[in-house]
Amino acid sequence: MVALAALVQICAAGAAGQVTARNPLSRRRDLLSNGLGLTPPMGWNTYNHFHWNISEEIIRETADAMVSSGLAALGYQYINLDDAWAEHERDPQGNLVPDAATFPSGIKALADYVHSKGLKLGIYSDAGNLTCSKLQPGSLGYEEQDANTFASWGIDFLKYDNCHDNGLSPKVRYPVMSKALLNTGRSIFFSLCEWGREDPATWAPAVGNSWRTTGDISDHWESMLRRADENDKWASYAGPGGWNGLMILNSLETDPDMLEVGNGGMTNDEYIAHFSIWALAKSPLIIGCDVRAMSNETYQILSNSEVIAVNQDRLGVQGRKVKEGDLEVWAGPLTNNRVAVVLWNRGSSRATVTAPFSDIGLRADLADARDLWVHMTIPSVKEQISADLDSHACKMYILTPK
Ligand SMILES: *[C@@H]1O[C@H](CO)[C@@H](O)[C@H](O)[C@H]1NC(C)=O
Ligand SMILES: *[C@@H]1O[C@H](CO)[C@@H](O)[C@H](O)[C@H]1NC(C)=O
Ligand SMILES: *[C@@H]1O[C@H](CO)[C@@H](O)[C@H](O)[C@H]1NC(C)=O
Repeated sequence: MVALAALVQICAAGAAGQVTARNPLSRRRDLLSNGLGLTPPMGWNTYNHFHWNISEEIIRETADAMVSSGLAALGYQYINLDDAWAEHERDPQGNLVPDAATFPSGIKALADYVHSKGLKLGIYSDAGNLTCSKLQPGSLGYEEQDANTFASWGIDFLKYDNCHDNGLSPKVRYPVMSKALLNTGRSIFFSLCEWGREDPATWAPAVGNSWRTTGDISDHWESMLRRADENDKWASYAGPGGWNGLMILNSLETDPDMLEVGNGGMTNDEYIAHFSIWALAKSPLIIGCDVRAMSNETYQILSNSEVIAVNQDRLGVQGRKVKEGDLEVWAGPLTNNRVAVVLWNRGSSRATVTAPFSDIGLRADLADARDLWVHMTIPSVKEQISADLDSHACKMYILTPK
């Protein structure tokens, strides 16, 4: 974690903003023809909770828990390995090799297991010479070979990281893997994780199905606000087939060890705001906690099907901040002329937040307001919606014009 954060800073400071001769946008149609990501991806990733300590047992048990908890039925379908699944060295033919100690059955067998549960398996590599952990080789210079390996294993998703970049721009490195994945003939969701370097929203829609717009998030209020705000300015670049990716949903977990060492964490109201804003912003909803041992509070947040429905709405327009300050309004259009709105008190004391319908794009004076966290409908609301909110709390509604 610490090492990665340091790297992000170094890279950000050294970002040269090079423009390459190739214009990736000209490839848009070809590279999006994988047909994936019509709505933001939903699933789970190993990194937030397990870091580099992962194993096939963890993956199988998580797949089981995704199904038994009901999260799979709500749309969370990708089970994604992050860093540290492979041996330090390639085999004599140059192939990546699953770690013999932690993935003894191999990735193909794991993919078969995950598929048997009706889920999809994601894998991780890096557009550099080594992955961020330095525990396994990166794919730079091996894009075709690694893409073919992933396809032969039945992989459905690739998260492609940005460490040890050999001094090359992401605009040079990422399209090579994008093309290699397409050439395999298997539909593999391509998730760019280059931490927002060189404004990926402006070129990555040609290259992948989602792209991180920011650096890592950490599990506290200020970090969450910063990432939400940084991501907001790229809203107009997102749409079906390609999404602005905020970092994987923060842990949403009560980890006693972390609390013991005073490691921050957020309150339940703050996690609810986090999930509401990520959903409205059409971010990938990738869970970071140990779903085998989720708290009830965490489950209640992640399983809110009405909030998920906003994220997965077919219109695919990223909601954005329409009123700034301590008392914020975020909103975005949905199918059938509906509007999703989040009223959010970012200030330090209880206050009323108000959104006039004219500010949030609702073309009506009268609307039914569905409260997505209380699960009740307020009929015939006139001209504006407002709520009294505790510090850091939010309300999320869908407004349906009458
Ligand atoms: C892996 O687990 C061990 C023991 O629980 C822990 O000390 C170590 O920090 C973990 N490593 C990572 C990278 O999370
Ligand atoms: C990194 O990988 C590239 C592509 O395979 C190679 O040309 C280069 O020599 C490598 N650099 C280092 C420092 O290993
Ligand atoms: C889980 O949380 C919900 C909402 O906070 C609450 O209504 C319910 O009683 C809780 N269930 C258990 C088993 O604690």
